[in-house]
Amino acid sequence: MAKSLASSKTKSAVPDHRHPLDPLSEAEITSACEILKTQKKLSSATRFAFVQLEEPVKADVLAWTRAKSLQRRAAATVFDSKTGAVHIGIVDLDKQAVTSWIEHQAKQHPYGQPPIIIEEFFKVGDIVKADAGWRKAMKRRGLSDKDIELVQVDPFSSGYFGREAEKGHRVVSAVSYYRTDIKDNGYAHPIEGVVALVDLIEERVVDLVDEKEIVPIPKTKRNYHRAAYPQTRKDIKPLDIVQREGPSFKVEGWQVHWQNWSFRIGFSAREGLVLNQISIHDGKKQRPIIYRASMTEMVVPYADPTANHHWKSAFDAGEYGLGKLANALELGCDCLGNIHYFDVPVADDNGVPTVMKNAICMHEEDYGVLWKHYEFRNDTFEVRRSRRLVVSSFATVGNYDYGFFWYFYQDGTIQLEAKLTGIIQTAAVTPGQPYPWGGMVAEGLGGPTHQHFFNARLHMMVDGEKNSISEHEFVPRPWGRDNPHGNVFDTTSRVLSREMDAAREADGRTGRYWKIVNPNLKNSVGNAPGYKLAVTASPLMLAQEGCSMRARGAFATKHLWVTKYDPAERYASGNFPNQHAGGDGLPKFIAQNRGIENEDIVVWHTFGHTHVCKPEDFPIMPVEYAGFMLKPNGFFVENPAMDLPPDKNDASVSDDSKGGTCCD
Ligand code: NI
Repeated sequence: MAKSLASSKTKSAVPDHRHPLDPLSEAEITSACEILKTQKKLSSATRFAFVQLEEPVKADVLAWTRAKSLQRRAAATVFDSKTGAVHIGIVDLDKQAVTSWIEHQAKQHPYGQPPIIIEEFFKVGDIVKADAGWRKAMKRRGLSDKDIELVQVDPFSSGYFGREAEKGHRVVSAVSYYRTDIKDNGYAHPIEGVVALVDLIEERVVDLVDEKEIVPIPKTKRNYHRAAYPQTRKDIKPLDIVQREGPSFKVEGWQVHWQNWSFRIGFSAREGLVLNQISIHDGKKQRPIIYRASMTEMVVPYADPTANHHWKSAFDAGEYGLGKLANALELGCDCLGNIHYFDVPVADDNGVPTVMKNAICMHEEDYGVLWKHYEFRNDTFEVRRSRRLVVSSFATVGNYDYGFFWYFYQDGTIQLEAKLTGIIQTAAVTPGQPYPWGGMVAEGLGGPTHQHFFNARLHMMVDGEKNSISEHEFVPRPWGRDNPHGNVFDTTSRVLSREMDAAREADGRTGRYWKIVNPNLKNSVGNAPGYKLAVTASPLMLAQEGCSMRARGAFATKHLWVTKYDPAERYASGNFPNQHAGGDGLPKFIAQNRGIENEDIVVWHTFGHTHVCKPEDFPIMPVEYAGFMLKPNGFFVENPAMDLPPDKNDASVSDDSKGGTCCD
């Protein structure tokens, strides 16, 4: 946690250029929260769950010029920690006025709560440890009063199961871990069969599971800090990334230029890193591709039916906040080379601004060969190395750490890679007994099988505001006069014309892919210019129909969703996924079945990873990758990277004396 809470009171290094999409500055956060506190007479019990820029609608942003200012607004999700009342307030920062103050009906079906805030991470431990029933459960498992002091209590979003204690109440489920000292890795010592449902407003345990059968707490220490691994490998020499002339990117405030790319960095408390107005310079034109790209939600449903696990399905964006939990990245450790960091102002739980230092990292990476050919007939040899620009951010949500890496390539490709690392959820297993709900990672320690789903929201703008999306597949052509040798196969193509028709699943067997095109323009070969959404083999949610986590995380039941742009539809899981009864978000959006052909469209892509745990995942899991690419498809007239200079890297040396001739 310490890293994600890194803060300082100093002014952000980022100048306030006040582009309409720039994240809120510290001064704007202060102003927004003070205006709300004063004008709405908020009590000292008020907590600010999310404070972020209320983005102007797209048309206004596109019409904006530096000569005319555009209203800056802040949106705050606030709740009263004594009464539980929830409001969404919009503040006009220019007029210094609250322009909207809407109560969210958290006490009425389908419910929904603001995310769990940092203060509650700590509060839950105190509440649980003061509960006599919970202490008794710990003592039944052999823990002394001194041991109990050291127990790690995790406030886990508790989902929604129709229990009276959760309907309209603000609750979390607390699971516990034994520790020998404050630095000990608690996830090596899960305390099985005890779950406390904590009402965060009433500040008490309202339901306690204390299973009769006692599973021994695994006691073997499994730490990962450097002191736990004093013997490190000796055969690794320094690998330095040196850019003597500096990086090739230019940064002006939140605006970035690199190679032909241009985009704006954005950030929100809920989504974390956002990329705005991605465009590429081509010939004499600056061509838009994506208006806004972000990670709107994640869900991690667990597949273990036992007391400690069956309800676990963390929505890390909507239930915690990927922006609020962003790490301070460290030069030379998280990021290698010539780095530009973006410091991001955020509001703390009390509406006081802090600056998250180094929350976003940007740098260039060598990425092997981009294109190459050797023509043996005339000895023409050309090769160009690929370089990519990396914009990244990491969020630590409890046990897991998630990296979000956007890559820009010189050939027009955009890639998002989610990096999954950190510590798995663990389960204690009685020695000698099987663990049917996941994989064993150590003696007496299992890891419940689970899935990770991410949802990227891509507000597309390929060469203009009106786009269409088409689906393509490869199918064999039957023998016949038009296939006399049997070798022909076809690429099918159909436009997805309405929202209900565009909730789609990927299919690796047919190579199904989707293309976002501008049907109003023609490319060099007479077709609509486009970008292909290249998806990777990715699971869908396996929880049964009727299961609560499926109803709440329905965005993970399809790989592709397409909606007509509505500024109110921002999150795949809806506005208040925490303790929501389900049905919000994408399935609700597409029920309108709006036309999406030649319209202002938003593409939502769900991708993920099914995780069956293994010993190699412990004590820290090596990074697992999931993601997708957007590749130009009929967008350029030729390979747009043909103009890369044939430079040879002078710093490279051969480890024998013969020297290299690869680029001569
Ligand atoms: Ni996992």
